[in-house]
Amino acid sequence: MEELKGLILSGGKGTRLQPITFTSAKQLVPVANRPVLFYGIDAMVEAGITEIGIIIAPETGSEIREVVGDGSQFGASVTFIEQDRPAGLAHAVLTAEPFLADSPFVMYLGDNLLQGGISELVDAFRANSPDALILLTQVADPEHYGVAELEGDRVVSLQEKPPEPKTDLALVGVYMFTAAVHDAARAIEPSARGELEITDAIQNLVDSGHRVEPHIVKGWWKDTGRLEDMLEANRLVLDATERRIDGEVTDSTCEGIVVIESGAVVERSTVTGPAVIGAGARITDAYIGPYSAIGERCVVDRSEVENSILLEGSSLTGVGARVEASLLGRNAAVSRKEGGAPSYRLLIGDESDIEVI
Ligand code: DAU
Repeated sequence: MEELKGLILSGGKGTRLQPITFTSAKQLVPVANRPVLFYGIDAMVEAGITEIGIIIAPETGSEIREVVGDGSQFGASVTFIEQDRPAGLAHAVLTAEPFLADSPFVMYLGDNLLQGGISELVDAFRANSPDALILLTQVADPEHYGVAELEGDRVVSLQEKPPEPKTDLALVGVYMFTAAVHDAARAIEPSARGELEITDAIQNLVDSGHRVEPHIVKGWWKDTGRLEDMLEANRLVLDATERRIDGEVTDSTCEGIVVIESGAVVERSTVTGPAVIGAGARITDAYIGPYSAIGERCVVDRSEVENSILLEGSSLTGVGARVEASLLGRNAAVSRKEGGAPSYRLLIGDESDIEVI
């Protein structure tokens, strides 16, 4: 088989993680302090795919270009491909056609996380040479995904977010294609949500007699589109992390899987892992509980946090109650004035979601 290329989809709108995604791409929201997108790039490189195209949107593309660079930090060569509007996953494939040319390729949705990488799947694709290989997994809420119906190990039908799914087998956001997918993407019409669906393009491949092979995912898989999924992805990745303390720790206890990056300072605090504390962060008189990812240059002072993601530069100062299951955007600040009357003073972005429990 010809050399495989990689295509990572990092365009789109990201409405479900607003307000974070008003100012930043959803694929850059960090999981265990690394942008979600980086895990996809790593998975490709591990599988031996180093020529990678990344689809970007006009609004968030420059930020993605900046953090990914030319790909050399991952051992890859990255080409950025701008998609003028989020017209669907199959539209993204057509936008990338000049880059992909006749090559077979792996397509990876930039907000997806797959445990255990993709090497095994890439090997299966190379060995069996189907026209397409799709990944499936059982989910409790198939109506939110592309859904496949199988007969034995043959894919017979696929539907995008059907209100009444025929099965509970969801399409995972990693696909392997030969160049046959380009004609299939050209043959389909936009769906009810106005997008050219990759699910419909795959159905077109099936209908035109191409061989589409299903592969059931064994490990965990996460589409990080929503806050609760993001927090769960964070927990899953943190669980698989190794303890490493490079920062400065004084008069504090760090239990379990704890990563403290160099340049971080932890004073008079308790850190109970799995947790990660980014470079330049300052943790003082605080409690950092399990499944917390504290970004670079964050400040947690006289506050408690657990099962939460703090993006770089954000801070919790003197907050009375424990902060749980929360996501703080870049440079967001939550503080409590000492001796002040019990009241809230808020400056909150559109679509923010604050629960006082
Ligand atoms: O996560 C798996 C699901 O992903 C599949 O089960 C569905 O069949 C598939 O359609 C897709 O559904 P979503 O509605 O979750 O896709 P979303 O709009 O979130 O886009 C997925 C990624 O692709 C995301 O990183 C944004 C990017 N994207 C999306 C569109 C619509 C683009 O780069 N360009 C686009 O035009």
